[in-house]
Amino acid sequence: MKLDRYKSIALLDSGVGGLTVAREIMRQLPYESIVYFGDTARMPYGPRPHEQVRGFVSEIIEFLYTQEIKAIIVACNSATAACSDYYRNGVGLPMLGVIEPGVNAALRYTVNKRVGVIGTTGTINSGAYQKVFQRLAPDVELFEQPCPLFVLIVENGLVATREAYRVAEEYLQPLKEAGVDVLILGCTHYPLMMDVIQEVMGPEVKLVSSAQETAREAKMILEEMALISPNKAGLPLHRFFVSGSARPFIEIATKLLGREVIAYQVVLDQKTSFFDLD
Ligand code: DGL
Repeated sequence: MKLDRYKSIALLDSGVGGLTVAREIMRQLPYESIVYFGDTARMPYGPRPHEQVRGFVSEIIEFLYTQEIKAIIVACNSATAACSDYYRNGVGLPMLGVIEPGVNAALRYTVNKRVGVIGTTGTINSGAYQKVFQRLAPDVELFEQPCPLFVLIVENGLVATREAYRVAEEYLQPLKEAGVDVLILGCTHYPLMMDVIQEVMGPEVKLVSSAQETAREAKMILEEMALISPNKAGLPLHRFFVSGSARPFIEIATKLLGREVIAYQVVLDQKTSFFDLD
C-alpha cells in the first residue's frame, strides 16, 4: 500500500472507548484526518475468545484499507491483547496498540513500584500487561483486576449513577488494599469513568489513561516516517463508521469530542455498501 502524508490515521475499537484516543489525536495532531471504526454491533470484545476478536479486527482492517489510510491505531486493549500477530507480521503500514504506551506512562509515575491495572476479562486473562511489565520493568509489582461491567456502564450512559459507584467500589477494593500508587485504565472505555474511579481510589492514586501516551507515540512514528500531515493540507476530515446503529454512537461521540459527529453504519460482510441509517 502506498503511504502518503495526506492520508488518514485509522482507529478501531469495539465501540465508543477508542474515542478517548481519537480525542487525543485531534489534540496532539490537529492537522490529521481520522477514520474511526466502532464495532458496536459486536461489542463487547472483552469476554470473547481471542481468535474471534482477531477475526473481527481483520475484517475491520480490510474495510479500513478501502479508506485511504496511512496508519492504524488499535484503540482497544482487548483487541491489542488479542492481536499480537499483527504487530509481529505487520499489515503493510504502521500499526500501534494501546498497551505498551500505557505501561510507559505508568513507569514514569510510580514511586512505590506497586502498579494496578484494570481492564476487561479478556485483557487481564491474556497476561498482556504482565508480559510488557516483565520486559520493561521486572521489579514492578503488578495487581490486576477485571472490571467487565464498566464497559456496559459507559456504553449505556450510566456513568453518573449510584450503581456505577457501587460497582466501582467492589471492583477496586482489592487494588486499594494492595496500596498501588498508579492505576492503569487498561480499557479505552474506562477514561469515560475517570471521575468515579478517581473518587473511589482516592486523590493520591495517579490514574493513567493510555490515550495521551498512544497519541504521543503515534506522532513520533509518523514523524520518523515523514508521514505527518502538513498544516497546508486544509481542514482535517474526521469520518466515523459503526457496525451497529449509528444514533447512540453519534450522541456519545458528539458529547465526548465536543463537535458535531456524523457516523455511518457499515455492513462488514458487504464492505462496499455502507449507508447512513439514522
Ligand atoms: N474498549 C475496549 C478495551 O479497551 C473494550 C471494550 C469491550 O469489551 O468491548 O478493552
